[in-house]
Amino acid sequence: MSDKKLNILVVGGGGREFSLAWKIHQSPLVNKVFNWPKEKPLMSQGFGLGQEDVFDYCVKEKIDLVVVGTETLLADGLVDQLVQRGIAAFGPNQAAAILEGSKGFMKDFCARHDIPTAQYRRFTDREQAHKFIQNQYIINPLANWVIKTDGLAAGKGVTVCNIHKNCNDNLVMAHAAIDTAMNDKKFGAAGLEIIIEECLIGREISFFALCDGKTAIPFGAAKDYKRAYDGDLGPNTGGMGAVSAPDLLTAAQERDIMENIIFPTMRGMAAEGREFKGILFAGLMLTPQGIKLLEFNVRFGDPECQALMMRLKSDLVPLMLESARGELAGHQVQFSHDPSICVVLAQKPYPEPIINWGEVRGLEKIELTNDCQVFYAAIANDEKNNFPHPKKYIAYGGRVLSVTTKAPTLAAAQKMAYEELQKIDFPNGFYRRDIGNDVLKKV
Ligand code: AMP
Ligand code: GLY
Repeated sequence: MSDKKLNILVVGGGGREFSLAWKIHQSPLVNKVFNWPKEKPLMSQGFGLGQEDVFDYCVKEKIDLVVVGTETLLADGLVDQLVQRGIAAFGPNQAAAILEGSKGFMKDFCARHDIPTAQYRRFTDREQAHKFIQNQYIINPLANWVIKTDGLAAGKGVTVCNIHKNCNDNLVMAHAAIDTAMNDKKFGAAGLEIIIEECLIGREISFFALCDGKTAIPFGAAKDYKRAYDGDLGPNTGGMGAVSAPDLLTAAQERDIMENIIFPTMRGMAAEGREFKGILFAGLMLTPQGIKLLEFNVRFGDPECQALMMRLKSDLVPLMLESARGELAGHQVQFSHDPSICVVLAQKPYPEPIINWGEVRGLEKIELTNDCQVFYAAIANDEKNNFPHPKKYIAYGGRVLSVTTKAPTLAAAQKMAYEELQKIDFPNGFYRRDIGNDVLKKV
């Protein structure tokens, strides 16, 4: 590597990208970190420009590496366009991003390569899908089903039909979910095809692997809290919090995941001309019958990323460059043994779209350290005042920010996160009070 320090652009406006920028900023190899589209290191501004603008921006700011955080841009081929123009980019190309972009592709891929996942059927015809569910109900009225749109649906395309109290409700729910998923006004092209799959029961875990097309190395595990309210109640969201800790999985479970899910995926994708580079995020269910794949994502999770970045000890920049160049072999990633926790502050009525903008006060009372960070998402600062000490913060979206902490025990990290959150004054805001409780066996 030459002595020239690098300019790195992180693309995407969420807390995930903010935490990536925070970590990248710590690298001695880095000159400056940018967040698209504005030149405001470490301050997310949302985005909305086309790909051509990203390219212009890279030339203007002499960007050496672009880190693409967001699945829609990966599925649209942003990495391909950057690489074609000679700009290094971290993340999968369009051909490989299909692992997240089409659930139907992902399920057939698992079948072709013997990767353990839920039983499934693909449907493009609505009546056939209804008929299938009706027949299944006759065979086993107690079975639970999951209905998914094939394409990207911002985390809203999955309905888990497992109401235990009355099995007839399951059937009603499954029929309604088929109609919703295939409603083109709601999901557009994403719902032209749906998948109906067996509902798996067990503990869910997010597992990450860093990939370079040929090699994959484990990149930590986290638990995501998807429901909006305490006790896993309320609607599904992008994620209201996360916990990362070294003992979320045993060494044997990690080996099992690498050998039976990650490596076969790397080999299979390469064999099909879709070499996978970047972060492969496996959503897993630890079932009594073994570890099964629920879904693949082709980027970091949000808010899992915030919890992982808090624990990451290795320099992220060389790892990202080696992933992009196909040179990861022999490398390892080091994480702190201390657990971390991320609690998301969202604006009511998230996950419904918000109507009002609201001021967030008290952020200056939080002391930012290596063990405690506020990662911003849908929040803008008062432009007249310089980062990082603006006078005003205005929330403009659902997930506004997260407080992420690390400590020698998860209990201590949890206590710290909630103490810091109490310093924030945001009448429109809400956050879950039970992030980490299940891992601490408080429930
Ligand atoms: P997704 O939007 O694809 O991230 O899926 C949302 C959530 O649906 C997952 O995180 C799981 O909690 C749940 N899910 C997806 N597939 C299944 C399945 N086959 N069995 C049980 N739960 C599932
Ligand atoms: N937190 C789950 C995701 O980012 O998809």
